[in-house]
Amino acid sequence: MRLKIAVFVSGKGSNLSAIIKAIEDGALGASIVCVVSNNPDAYGLTVAREHGLEVFALSHKGLSRQEHEAKIVEHLQGLGVDFVVLAGYMRVLTSHFLNAFKDADGFFRVINIHPALLPSFKGANGYEDAFAYGVKVSGITVHLVDEEVDHGPILAQRAFPRLADDTIETFKQRGLEVEHALYPEVLAAIANHGIHSLLLNSLKTVRT
Ligand code: GRF
Repeated sequence: MRLKIAVFVSGKGSNLSAIIKAIEDGALGASIVCVVSNNPDAYGLTVAREHGLEVFALSHKGLSRQEHEAKIVEHLQGLGVDFVVLAGYMRVLTSHFLNAFKDADGFFRVINIHPALLPSFKGANGYEDAFAYGVKVSGITVHLVDEEVDHGPILAQRAFPRLADDTIETFKQRGLEVEHALYPEVLAAIANHGIHSLLLNSLKTVRT
């Protein structure tokens, strides 16, 4: 099945680029039906336009959280989105948004990538916080989103080392390379085998 995804970005969109490349290379059977951003200046939107993708940019400024989310949901309606893929989207989504993507099994069809091994180092500065803590191993988590920030059933995790002579820049660069491989791989697994293939047995129905 060809997975229909909407990718949400707020910044440079390097994960979006990796997903686009995987699709163009034939490694990921998906179509990006829309790239959404709350930041009209996000470089990720430029990436999307360069690849001929539809974009929907709507600043959250001057709108309530609920109004902003409602306009995005309204825009996505009718596009047949199977999964919302958060790729550096710097807005917390409320249950109003999530409920628009509720699966019959009870989970939300919204996926996030976080630059640390959850449940460690939640929040907007995963790389910086893990580095400052002095971890010797860190990693990347791809997970289903729920109402809590950086929380929800884990779909995949991949570790990478922090080397003795790392700076925050080299540490982050190593992590981003993992992100760019892992996110397309997870999406390809969903496209090929379904979301349940990535959930642990105990989490096959995650919520009622
Ligand atoms: C990534 O580190 C991702 O894990 C986090 O936000 C960053 C987005 O980077 N959620 P980019 O915009 O994909 O380059």
